[in-house]
Amino acid sequence: MAELDLTRIPNHVAIILDGNGRWAKERGKPRIYGHRHGAFNLRDVAKYANSIGVKYLTVYCFSTENWKRPDDEVNFLMNTPVWYIKRFWKTMVENTNIRYKMIGRRDRLPKKLLQAIEEMEEASKNHTGLTLSLAIDYGSRDEITTAVKKIATEVKENKLNVSDINEDLITNNLFTKDYPPLDLMIRTSGEYRISNFLLWQLAYSEFYFTNTYFPDFTPEKFKEALIDFQSRNRRFGGLK
Ligand code: IPE
Ligand code: IPE
Ligand code: MG
Repeated sequence: MAELDLTRIPNHVAIILDGNGRWAKERGKPRIYGHRHGAFNLRDVAKYANSIGVKYLTVYCFSTENWKRPDDEVNFLMNTPVWYIKRFWKTMVENTNIRYKMIGRRDRLPKKLLQAIEEMEEASKNHTGLTLSLAIDYGSRDEITTAVKKIATEVKENKLNVSDINEDLITNNLFTKDYPPLDLMIRTSGEYRISNFLLWQLAYSEFYFTNTYFPDFTPEKFKEALIDFQSRNRRFGGLK
């Protein structure tokens, strides 16, 4: 297998971390057992990504559609991260140069979760390493709809002309406005769909699908995805 070329590391990688539930089921355990292992694994993948110079890692943790799941699972997903952030991520904030961000709606999250996330964002805001962006209550259609409403309001209030609306303006009204273009989109667990993640941002990203469930998607497997990415020929509509 080819080696990872450290001079050509993608700037921005996204992961649809999927398969936690099935991973647990295979072990005869409840779904939340899989979420817990997925969270531990995310820590390892993020540390590895940081160590090799990935600048942005955007991970799908909870979609706007995931509220449809049974109450006990939603409660687990909304409450456990608070404990988890306090117990582990705090030490990551203190011991690594990872910068934390959250993308997604903030108005429907439990107060405690939002508070823990905002503390983590604040504590790491001057960090210069990887930006680990957690997509929570994130839906790409919701994000685009919100951007359209904001732009329409500015037009109505004569702060903006219709002729000012262009691709950059739309990009700059998304949660990811300060992020570099998305280079690589990974989905684990053998599903071949996007499930409402980063629809605008992925226009020219490369895709990598793997059957591995997220709790088993170790840094080594992440590295394999990057090696595969480095073999791609990105043309962006031109000729190369
Ligand atoms: C991904 O794992 C994590 C979340 C969506 C919260 P799933 O919970 O979707 O696991 P599967 O797909 O049911 O195995
Ligand atoms: C997508 O996974 C959302 C996250 C990984 C957070 P799902 O498991 O919710 O997606 P579907 O329902 O299989 O499309
Ligand atoms: Mg799933």
